[in-house]
Amino acid sequence: MSAETAAASAPYEAPPGLAGVSVARTKVSDVLGRQGFYHYRGYNAVDIARRGRVEDAWHLMLHGELPTPEQRDQFAAQTAAWRELPDGVAGLLPAIARLSPPGSLASLRTALSLAAQALGCRPWGDQTREETVEQAARLSAIMPVLAAALFRLASGLEPVQPRPDLGYAANYLYMITGEEPDERSRYAIERYLMLTIDHGFNNSTFTARVIASSGTDLGGVATGALAALSGPLHGGAPARVFDMLDAIGTPENAEPWLRHQIESGHVLMGFGHRIYKTIDPRSQLLHEVARELHSDRVALSEVVEKTAVELLAELKPGRDLYANVEFYAGVVLEAAGLPREMFTPSFACSRIIGWMANVLEQIADNRIFRPLAHYDGPAAPRELPGYWQPGQP
Ligand SMILES: CC(C)(COP(=O)(O)OP(=O)(O)OC[C@H]1O[C@@H](n2cnc3c(N)ncnc32)[C@H](O)[C@@H]1OP(=O)(O)O)[C@@H](O)C(=O)NCCC(=O)NCCS
Repeated sequence: MSAETAAASAPYEAPPGLAGVSVARTKVSDVLGRQGFYHYRGYNAVDIARRGRVEDAWHLMLHGELPTPEQRDQFAAQTAAWRELPDGVAGLLPAIARLSPPGSLASLRTALSLAAQALGCRPWGDQTREETVEQAARLSAIMPVLAAALFRLASGLEPVQPRPDLGYAANYLYMITGEEPDERSRYAIERYLMLTIDHGFNNSTFTARVIASSGTDLGGVATGALAALSGPLHGGAPARVFDMLDAIGTPENAEPWLRHQIESGHVLMGFGHRIYKTIDPRSQLLHEVARELHSDRVALSEVVEKTAVELLAELKPGRDLYANVEFYAGVVLEAAGLPREMFTPSFACSRIIGWMANVLEQIADNRIFRPLAHYDGPAAPRELPGYWQPGQP
């Protein structure tokens, strides 16, 4: 084979992390990183988050359009009814909760897998589209119930049963704290949940689509996506942002502390993004909400944000690093009454809505994801080592 033919047949080698590579077509959402803009099915996601309820965005994601007022009422009633756990699940939650501390993502993914099994999720090709759509909605409705129940059980408290008369956001807080939330807290958590429903081909959404492409059931999809979300480079950052704020302690300490971190080669939690090369619009709205809540942490957070952005521009020039969604998320969630351990589980509750919309799109026109990898290990075939004595085949 000539060198030219070999080069023509060599597979395209994608950059590490698939940065800048488009791997599918989608109508669900998109992120325009340079413009600091993202949308849900064409609608400005920040506008929707500012003005709507979780059920509006959920309907848009699941059914493709924003609901009319009647559709919203119906959808809210239907999804509230689906908060009920399938038979046999509630009794097993105490055992799962005992295995890890409150807010554990490992416990949540175990419980989610169990609930999906109890719901009867099967490989999507073995059931009707209607069954799959219903399971997608039910898994999304169940996730907050599992997250809240596991948190309470691991904290030595009895789970609080969901209230169908409360909207998604109010019910979520109610199941965690055991008290009906005030309007301020409900408003804050609703903004957070709506802002984080979907965000292009982020790591967990891509994971969900890859898993679904093999034809597996939605429980396997959701469990795998949840595992991806739990990593500190993805959804696991907001609690670590708080750890950072605690370590900094005072505004005067921000500059030396942050400088030392960057100079020692550490990443600053809550900063940087693969796609946004300007301010993250989610962070902007959450900053606004945090200010409205008059949280004690806002003043320190603002100093840390400003100092970090200046230092990152000085020490990492040309990388365009700004605060991402996680930076103010914790401030908002804490002010709304959520403990630190529940930050990432809360993200999982909203993001499963996006995973499911993506998966329904994937399976409507599926081709299994099966890329190549460039092997660069020892030249093959290698000689077997002399010490290796194979047994009988
Ligand atoms: C989000 C994130 C994983 C994106 O990663 P990525 O697109 O692969 O970006 P890279 O890791 O290639 O970063 C590019 C450069 O910016 C630097 N950088 C990126 N984020 C940084 C941060 N938060 N603090 C300090 N430096 C950072 C990297 O060190 C790298 O520098 P180099 O060119 O000297 O090697 C990354 O910015 C990060 O780890 N952020 C902190 C965790 C976080 O907040 N996650 C939540 C995301 S919503």
